[in-house]
Amino acid sequence: MSVAVAARTALAACASVSVVYGRGEAQVAALRDVNLQIARGDHLALLGRSGSGKTTLLHVLGGLLLPTSGTVSWKAEPLSTLDAAARGRARAQGIAYVFQGSNLFPNLTTWENVAFAARAALRPDADGLGPDQLLALVGLLAKADSLPAELSGGESQRVAVARALAQRPELLLCDEPTGHLDTDTGARVLDMIEALRQELDFALVIATHDPDVAARAERAVALSGGRLSEE
Ligand SMILES: Nc1ncnc2c1ncn2[C@@H]1O[C@H](COP(=O)(O)OP(=O)(O)OP(=O)(O)O)[C@@H](O)[C@H]1O
Ligand SMILES: [Mg+2]
Repeated sequence: MSVAVAARTALAACASVSVVYGRGEAQVAALRDVNLQIARGDHLALLGRSGSGKTTLLHVLGGLLLPTSGTVSWKAEPLSTLDAAARGRARAQGIAYVFQGSNLFPNLTTWENVAFAARAALRPDADGLGPDQLLALVGLLAKADSLPAELSGGESQRVAVARALAQRPELLLCDEPTGHLDTDTGARVLDMIEALRQELDFALVIATHDPDVAARAERAVALSGGRLSEE
């Protein structure tokens, strides 16, 4: 296969994906017939207002949530045909999240948060990128022994990025990574994620309600009421 063709191979794909939460009168259609392909090297923004389905789509893409109907594939393999353990392995070995809110383990130090993810990724060799190197990459080696409660919002997000990258993912899914940060701090966190993408070569999807954040991506799609359209 030529390099050019390999570069465009879909990593993750959704075909006619719908997600319905709840039952009966309480039903919410969070995603409606969504089609999306994420290729190696992509830098995609996922725009949409609160409640439009962004988090749901990231969870479905990463195999944390199975769709009500439709197919989600990881490297052309439908996730629904894998058992939970195999889905977990695909996730651990290829896909990392920076969740909405940094979700650090509160009783672990900065260093331990990153080290925990590196171990959980089943990739102890991970190109020599241990917690020290990752914390240095996000500029937080000096805070290695701090607990999450002792960090600022921007610092917490940077640790969350380091922790996600400890998996050496091929796809990094970021859910409003700057949602709780002021504009300048948010821009610095995004600068850092984009620089790390160049250096470590992962595909990047950033969910955001902020058009300025979306404008930084190479491609943007928008969710509205669970329906996806190209921007
Ligand atoms: N576990 C759940 N049970 C029932 N409804 C849910 C659940 N999670 C999300 N929803 C509903 O699904 C819809 C999409 O939610 P989702 O969290 O994907 O939106 P979002 O775009 O990420 O919003 P935000 O920008 O506020 O994070 C919303 O109407 C929400 O209320
Ligand atoms: Mg959300």
